[in-house]
Amino acid sequence: MHDYDLLVVGSANADLVIGVERRPGPGETVLGSDLAVHPGGKGANQAVAAARLGARTALLARVGDDDHGRLLLDSLRTAGADTSGMLTGGAPTGVALITVDPSGDNSIVVSPGANARLTPEDVRAAAPLLAAARVVSLQLEIPLETVAEVVRAAAAGAEGRPGPRVVLNPSPAAPLPDGVLAVCDPLVVNEHEARFLLDGDPAGGSAEPAEWAAALLARGPRSVVVTLGEQGALVAEGGRTVLVDSLPVKAVDTTGAGDAFTGALAWRLGVGDGLEAAVRFAVRVGAAAVTRAGAQQSFPTAEDVARL
Ligand code: RIB
Repeated sequence: MHDYDLLVVGSANADLVIGVERRPGPGETVLGSDLAVHPGGKGANQAVAAARLGARTALLARVGDDDHGRLLLDSLRTAGADTSGMLTGGAPTGVALITVDPSGDNSIVVSPGANARLTPEDVRAAAPLLAAARVVSLQLEIPLETVAEVVRAAAAGAEGRPGPRVVLNPSPAAPLPDGVLAVCDPLVVNEHEARFLLDGDPAGGSAEPAEWAAALLARGPRSVVVTLGEQGALVAEGGRTVLVDSLPVKAVDTTGAGDAFTGALAWRLGVGDGLEAAVRFAVRVGAAAVTRAGAQQSFPTAEDVARL
């Protein structure tokens, strides 16, 4: 029996958000709305999304000893996520500068702060947390060597038991070692991340998500999920590719919707769903998340998802 359906290892950021009529081009200044400060970060977002849906989930992350860090801890606790793996200090809490335009699209610049100080040693010290989880979910706003340490520990297992199943969303996109790719089950990518990872591969120039998925699978992951925004998501595993449709919703703000999708997906895998069933649930969660402003405060409960 595991204590957690899902352990998320990743980032926690304060999101500094400004609404704009139009996102600025190079060298350009535009005026925007009042500043809003929200809890965010791809790791914390996934943990909050899963917890709000009812998951037994924990987050291993590092925040600063500051107001932003306290904002993040409050949000995690309010959602029902376990914060026993949260580490404090070493640098200020990570910050994301976000502009959102009227179509709901955003641009994000992240200053990693304390996220960059989440070390492989921190992962080793959290071995009991890892051993207690059915699934571990990762992103790339923490050092790659820390991600690789989680993957190593998950692949090794502990005390004769297999380690957790690994879900990885390589965002922001970065080159991945073969050893990391090989354990992903699934690798979750959007179009940008798929094309980045396929740089130099003819499939990366294709307009067909099924070709990206096939080419990515050939790199070693056990399964691949390609998120396609309002078109839904493509699931590729075991020689089978399935397109899962999304729901028609009016997008207000897409910030964090991908994290809500991946957190929900990873949770459903942790409670025993197959990959396609987990994606069918996760696209509904992602759709609900775009209908409200912000990241964590936009994430639905299980009742919200049932009502969609
Ligand atoms: O994916 C959305 C998240 O990316 C934001 O919450 C921001 O913190 C950045 O990490």
